[in-house]
Amino acid sequence: MTLVIDNIGELVTNAPELGAGPLGIIENASVVVDGATVVSVGAAGAVADERLDAGGRCVLPGFVDSHTHMVFAGDRAEEFTRRMAGEPYDGGGIRVTMQATRAAGREALREGLDRHLHEAHRAGTTTVEIKSGYGLSVESEAETTSVAAGVTSETTFMGAHVVPDEYLGRTDDYVDLVCGPMLDAVRPHVRWIDAFCEEGAFDADQSRAVLEAGRAAGLGLRLHANQLDYGPGVRLGVDMGCASVDHCTYLSGDDIEALAASDTVATFLPSADFSTRQPYPDARRAIDAGVTVAIASNCNPGSSYTTSISFCIALAVRDMNMTIDEAIAAATTGGAAALRRNDVGRLAPDGPAHLTIIDAPSRHHLAYRPGVPLIWRTLGADYVQPSTEHETRRRKASS
Ligand code: NIG
Repeated sequence: MTLVIDNIGELVTNAPELGAGPLGIIENASVVVDGATVVSVGAAGAVADERLDAGGRCVLPGFVDSHTHMVFAGDRAEEFTRRMAGEPYDGGGIRVTMQATRAAGREALREGLDRHLHEAHRAGTTTVEIKSGYGLSVESEAETTSVAAGVTSETTFMGAHVVPDEYLGRTDDYVDLVCGPMLDAVRPHVRWIDAFCEEGAFDADQSRAVLEAGRAAGLGLRLHANQLDYGPGVRLGVDMGCASVDHCTYLSGDDIEALAASDTVATFLPSADFSTRQPYPDARRAIDAGVTVAIASNCNPGSSYTTSISFCIALAVRDMNMTIDEAIAAATTGGAAALRRNDVGRLAPDGPAHLTIIDAPSRHHLAYRPGVPLIWRTLGADYVQPSTEHETRRRKASS
C-alpha cells in the first residue's frame, strides 16, 4: 500500500542532490512512501494508493536524538528547584536516580521508557539512542540495557556514569567491575560504550580503560566530555576514535583543533546547559573550524528532562549562534553522524520513511516559535513505538 504526502509547502530532504542548498529543499513537493520506505520525492501531485494532504505545511526528516538516558525511575524535580535557587549541578544526583531505578523493577522501567518514547514521537523524533547509567550494579545495568534493547538497537552501556555508593572511595575497583563482569552482563544488549570523563566522575585514565574494554568487546565508543569544566575528555575521545564526544560545553582551542581534524562528532546538549545554568558551548567557533556537530535532547531526570528537539533547536539558534539550518542539520544528519548512520536523518528514495510534519509553512518556525507544540504528525521510527493499548492503560492508571 503506497501513500503520497502531497501539497507540502516546504520539504527538507537533507539530500542536496534532490533540492536547493545543503538541506536539499523542495517547494510545493510530495513524498511517496511504500510501508516503511520512501519511494520518491519530487513535485506536488504524485499519485499513490492513499493521500495525506499536508496543507502547505513543512515536512522534515524525523529528528535523530543521539543522546538520551531514557531508562530510569523517579524524577528529580526538587533538585532542579534547588538549582534554580542557586545550587550548582555536579552530577551527584545520579545516585538518587540509581536508587529509584534499582528498586523499580523491569515493568515500571519499561512503562517509563514507553512514556518517554511516546513523548519523543509526538515531538518529531524518529531515531533515539538510549544509554544506561542509573543501574550501576551488574544486575541493574543488565536489566536497564535489556529494557532499552527491547525498543532500539542504538543502546549504550554507561556503567561508568558515577561511582555508586557501595564503591565510594574505591573508584579503581568499580572501574574493574565495569570493565569485567558488568560489561559481560550487558554485552548482548548494547551497541556502544560510554563514560563520564569529568572531575568527580572518572578521570582520563579510568575513562580510557572503560573505552578500551568496550572496544575489545566489539562495542562502538562515545564519551561524555567537558560538561562541567575544561579537561582532557574531548581530546581523549578524539584520540580513541569515539563516534561522538558529548556536551562539549567547555571547548579549548586545542579541543576544537583536534575535533576538526577527526571524524568524531561534537554533540551539543543545549537543554542540559539550560537546565543546569551552565554557559552554552561555543558552537559557532567549532562549526567555523570545520567540526561536525550534532544536537540532542539528553533526556534524563537530572540535567535535562526534555524530549523536545525543537526546544534544543531554538536554544542552539538563540544561545549558541547556530543558524536555523545548521541547527536542523545538527538534529538530523548530525545525530545520524554521531551514531555512524547514513540511512536516517534524510528523506531520499529507498531510505526509511521517517518524517515529521510541522504545523507551519517553513522550517524557520522551529526556532521562531519556541515552546509551541508545532509537530502536526510524525510518521515512522526505528524504535518500537508504544502501542495505543499501552497508552490507554497508562492514562487510566494515572487518572
Ligand atoms: O548527560 N553528565 C552525566 N550524565 C547526564 C546527567 C545525568 C543526571 O544528572 O542524572 C548528562 O547530563
